[in-house]
Amino acid sequence: MKNKFYVTTPIYYATAAPHLGSLYSTLLADVAAKWNMLNGKEVFFLTGTDEHGQKIEAAAKAAGKKPKEFVDSFIGAYKNVWHDYQIDYTKFIRTTDKEHVKAVQKWISQLLENGDIYKGKYEGMYCTPCETFVVDKKEEDVECPECNRACVFVSEEAYFFKLSAYQDKLLEFYKNHPDFVYPKARLNEVTSFVESGLKDLCISRSTLKWGIPFPGDEQHVAYVWADALNNYITAIGYLDKGKQSEFEKWWPADLQVLGKDIVRFHAVYWPAFLMASNLPLPNHLLVHGWIKINEQKMSKSLGNAVDPVVLKDQFGADEVRCYLTSQMAVTQDSEFSIKGLKEFISKNLANDLGNLLNRTTTLALRSKLEAVEPPKELSKDSKELKVELDNCYNAFKNYMEQASFHMAMAEIWKFTSRVNSYFHAQEPWKLAKSDKEKFEEVIFVTCSSLQSIANLLWPVMPTKMADLLAQIGGRLNIELVERWLSIFKLKAGETLFNKYDAEEEPKEEVVEEKKENYITIDDFVKVELAVGTIVECEEVPKSDKLLKMQVDFGAKGIRQIFGGIKKFYKPEDLKGKQGVFVINLKPRKMMGMESQGMMLTAESEDGLARIIPSELVPAGSNLK
Ligand code: MSP
Repeated sequence: MKNKFYVTTPIYYATAAPHLGSLYSTLLADVAAKWNMLNGKEVFFLTGTDEHGQKIEAAAKAAGKKPKEFVDSFIGAYKNVWHDYQIDYTKFIRTTDKEHVKAVQKWISQLLENGDIYKGKYEGMYCTPCETFVVDKKEEDVECPECNRACVFVSEEAYFFKLSAYQDKLLEFYKNHPDFVYPKARLNEVTSFVESGLKDLCISRSTLKWGIPFPGDEQHVAYVWADALNNYITAIGYLDKGKQSEFEKWWPADLQVLGKDIVRFHAVYWPAFLMASNLPLPNHLLVHGWIKINEQKMSKSLGNAVDPVVLKDQFGADEVRCYLTSQMAVTQDSEFSIKGLKEFISKNLANDLGNLLNRTTTLALRSKLEAVEPPKELSKDSKELKVELDNCYNAFKNYMEQASFHMAMAEIWKFTSRVNSYFHAQEPWKLAKSDKEKFEEVIFVTCSSLQSIANLLWPVMPTKMADLLAQIGGRLNIELVERWLSIFKLKAGETLFNKYDAEEEPKEEVVEEKKENYITIDDFVKVELAVGTIVECEEVPKSDKLLKMQVDFGAKGIRQIFGGIKKFYKPEDLKGKQGVFVINLKPRKMMGMESQGMMLTAESEDGLARIIPSELVPAGSNLK
């Protein structure tokens, strides 16, 4: 079916409410959906949440909740934010949905049968935050290339997908579909990655429970990406007998939106999965850059996330949508700032667009012109403006087709400022008294331009553009962009956009405070930490856990400190060694004796380790 448009967003990890970065991915998909709707296509817009895997299991544990209960708690926040921002999705999929789970299991069984999935053993370094296998062998100090966080060693029996068998087919596909990935430069990166050689991909985990059970082998759950990527087909009925025609109607996707951090999954693994299932590949992937704050990726874990709800309350959903679409260069990283947002709203929206509308309707109504009809013929200036609109529209369409939304928006801002110049140059306030016919033509041309702009901006600002059209009696109909034949019925309306003083401090803090576990620096400095040298160390009779230490803190004296570390250290191992201690803890009695501090240790599944300075320092040195 040619006249359909199937667009998807990545599915978001349900570990927190959405932030502005999550909104950005979703907004780009929504703009594409609305643009295609406006052009008469039937649209299916899919979004949802990614709810399985180690990351979720660990986050739920940290929150003291069961995984399902934990993920459930964020769904409302996602749906509310999407609603507030007029994100018109057709379906919200959750990877815990029964239909999805069933379909993924069928998909695995199918691939097991045809030999694309086989059993083996995985050993290597794994990045839990990115849910990625980083190096296929044990190595010390491996950092994830994506997020720079430390990887953990995993050694387990696992199922593998024969990714290596698809290397040549993928390269062939990239060659024949140079516009598979927007922007094209990203496809070059992907191609080099595939050319450097593909190893088979581990697609099951046996050391966690929170995932889709592997069919026929309950020891395993599906690796979260094998589960998650399939949402794009299970949502529209893949492997569901009753929904075959629905699936065939929508697949392949026309546009799949994703951030640059997850390109490899979407441009390599996903197409290979589809090839193995004999399914066509998506037409285009749109890979967008990150929204940054002070040059750092905005993210919940970095604590610099902007809350879209606070932004909407302060500036309005359409204004934020328009700012993000116009000012964030889709394909690159872009800096977000409140100052930039205020400047954009004040200049582009309030001054150039809102004022133009206001001046036009006020002047016309004051001159008793309520119904504006097309003139018999357009003047030279008006014709020139129309030619500029036609050029703008052509460029706009091209950019929209390539999902280069910010470039498309730039065309609109250029044209809007041209309409302002036209309006000024015609001096309609003089014509209102001297030349009624010419006056009416200028108002008609300005209203037609505004109607064209409102249609083109509608996918980005659906509410505000409907308001604009209502004030001139215009219509939402993409054909009217080119056809200037409408009759306008003007009526006074409210100011469309507010202006902001860019220097003024925001009323409310928009960069969210990470709510959990924050302490202030004042809290921190209350804890006195110092390096001490353990001069004596002995076991405590009748205690399984305790060692008793005499610790030298230089000028601060020698203190007796107990530590629950007997299982991990022998007294002779500690004698003469340094450690880090809290020295202003209220003394307390342990086995009848006073402990005058506490030794710091790092605890993990592998045991316990003493914290030591990287170089020998004088006993008693303070930590800051
Ligand atoms: N669950 C996976 C995706 C699975 S899709 C089959 C995931 N989830 S995520 O919640 O971490 O990220 C979802 C999307 O949000 C990604 O496209 C990511 O790039 C985007 N963003 C997250 N932070 C962002 C910014 N600061 N800026 C722009 N987009 C960012 O990855």
